[in-house]
Amino acid sequence: MTITNLGSGTDLPPASGKRVLLIGASRGLGLALAQEWAQDGRQITATVRGSGRTQLHDLADTHAGGIEIDTVDITEPEQVTALHTRLAGRMFDLLFVNAGVANQPEGTVAETSTDEFNRVMVTNALSPLRVIEALQDLVEPTGTIGVMSSGQGSVANNVRGGHEVYRGSKAALNTFMRSYAARHDGEHRTLVLMAPGWVRTDLGGSGAPLGIDDSIPNVVKTLDSLQGRPGLHYVDYLGRTVAW
Ligand SMILES: NC(=O)c1ccc[n+]([C@@H]2O[C@H](COP(=O)([O-])OP(=O)(O)OC[C@H]3O[C@@H](n4cnc5c(N)ncnc54)[C@H](OP(=O)(O)O)[C@@H]3O)[C@@H](O)[C@H]2O)c1
Repeated sequence: MTITNLGSGTDLPPASGKRVLLIGASRGLGLALAQEWAQDGRQITATVRGSGRTQLHDLADTHAGGIEIDTVDITEPEQVTALHTRLAGRMFDLLFVNAGVANQPEGTVAETSTDEFNRVMVTNALSPLRVIEALQDLVEPTGTIGVMSSGQGSVANNVRGGHEVYRGSKAALNTFMRSYAARHDGEHRTLVLMAPGWVRTDLGGSGAPLGIDDSIPNVVKTLDSLQGRPGLHYVDYLGRTVAW
């Protein structure tokens, strides 16, 4: 398995392509990713949950033809299969799974109810891999598959505890992506676990040090810089390798 660091070479890799499939873009970081890519002239298919109007619909109205909206709840396998069926025959340069949830940061894992543990783990760890497995054939052989991880998924950097279930879910996500990468060793796709920084969103809270504009333009730049570099990269929004 190739697990590479983001190089600092002088060769400028191409941008991560024009056709983007973005999962979980109703608000927060996903919405900002859609906005950034739309402003960049990329063709975006972005998903929301359910049939209600979201901020993504407002954004799509201001980018006529640039943003197509589809629906999927990533925890519902039949919805993932249905999305794949609707998109059959299409090809994307980048699949990015952003959808994720947090739970209350206080309390140990042992104090967490089984339902809450299941909700966070199923959403953040199991479901992204189900989405990737189901939709991977829509991604160009030299394209990119990325998923929103977190710096809190780092086992090595967990020296203070806290946010135990969320941390565990992102660490599990990272491990599942390593298994995926190992199974796809020798292929040409770029695989990315992205740590966007601690950002002010509904999930990140108002006390986070970064605004969306500090994170997301850099996330996009980092994804572009990794295009053409096969193997699995666990990096933050500034392209810095995160310790596993
Ligand atoms: N903000 C941070 O500081 C931070 C730091 C590290 C990592 N992250 C990660 O970044 C990602 C986005 O976080 P955010 O801060 O933008 O959170 P957010 O504002 O709460 O947005 C979460 C997004 O995920 C979607 N989502 C949740 N569960 C879903 C499901 N089962 N199926 C489909 N979509 C679902 C939500 O859709 P609905 O509107 O339908 O709920 C929403 O679009 C998450 O994976 C999070 O773990 C965030």
